[in-house]
Amino acid sequence: MKVLGIETSCDETAAAIVDEQRNIIANLVLSQLDEHRAFGGVVPEIAARAHIDHLATLIKAALEDAKLKPEELDGIAATCGPGLIGGVMVGMMAGKAMAAAHKLPFIAVNHLEAHALTPRLTDDVAFPYLLLLVSGGHTQILAAEDVGSYRQIGTTIDDALGECFDKSAKLMGLPYPGGPNLEKAAKECADPASALERFPLPRPLCDRPDCDFSFSGLKTAVRTHVDKLPPGPLRMEDVAALACAFEHAVCEILVNRCEKAIRQFMQQYGDRAKSPSFVIAGGVAANQAIRASLKDLTARYDMSFSAPPGKLCSDNGAMIAWAGIERLRMGLSDPLDIAARPRWPLDPDAEQSRT
Ligand code: KG4
Ligand code: ZN
Repeated sequence: MKVLGIETSCDETAAAIVDEQRNIIANLVLSQLDEHRAFGGVVPEIAARAHIDHLATLIKAALEDAKLKPEELDGIAATCGPGLIGGVMVGMMAGKAMAAAHKLPFIAVNHLEAHALTPRLTDDVAFPYLLLLVSGGHTQILAAEDVGSYRQIGTTIDDALGECFDKSAKLMGLPYPGGPNLEKAAKECADPASALERFPLPRPLCDRPDCDFSFSGLKTAVRTHVDKLPPGPLRMEDVAALACAFEHAVCEILVNRCEKAIRQFMQQYGDRAKSPSFVIAGGVAANQAIRASLKDLTARYDMSFSAPPGKLCSDNGAMIAWAGIERLRMGLSDPLDIAARPRWPLDPDAEQSRT
């Protein structure tokens, strides 16, 4: 079984082909960094137009890479939400048109589910597993019970972690895209111990028994520190020290919240999960300090740890194609009149869902 996956929900135009044996046969991602850099963030209208300009070329190139004709595919999967609706419509309509033209099943993919299922593509992780999903728009801890079945254990009550990275990076004068540049700056900090003393930062909600997050106070504290730095252009060593303190605070928050979630998960799913796994996914999961902290945490609880390689953490077509395969092999596909969804929570029952 081979499926084409199309991703256009944010600022990456992507097309990929994946087979049922978990081989990524083609995987093309065109980032729109240059289009958005001047604005310091993603401009929805510019993103949608760029997807229109590039998507057909990328799909053609993916088919060429895979040496496949469209009719040799078993299905077409496209992100149908959540995301920037103009961009989502571009990929969804292209996918539906291809499915109609070649009489193939169409699979409407939830972008968040595609992130959530990526560790099954890369590491064949078995259900149920505990998932930390951290991206530009979402921060959630979920129990992944099965394809299409997720139970939210924790969520952010304000900003998403990726958003907090991006806004903090901007405050530190770091260029777009913020998250990866903040990580780079943190690595340049010569003396992490004194950076932590010099730039104390809060760990919001860490005294609470639940597993929720709050990141807006962290961002505000970064602003307060930046405002106290000497006027004029920020010195690189100050930025590196503040970035290091920021990353340290984020890691401690994630470890605190995830440890609570692990205990809850083991209580509820421990019997069912033969070798319980903790999985991280989403763009922020590319961060090496975060990966290392969570790997240490999970080792303490005898859980296996799975984090997709960096290029499969950020938005890509392979995860969409894989989510398509997971659904298609369960006999699931969607009618061509299915609508795009700007919001599409993974756990619709979650009391406080902010997806
Ligand atoms: O999953 P993704 O590619 O797009 C969304 O669906 O949101 O995630 C993008 C987010 C951005 O906020 C970006 O700054 C963040 O992931 N990110 C990182 C790193 N790489 C990407 N944050 C921290 N460290 C990184 N290395
Ligand atoms: Zn994403």
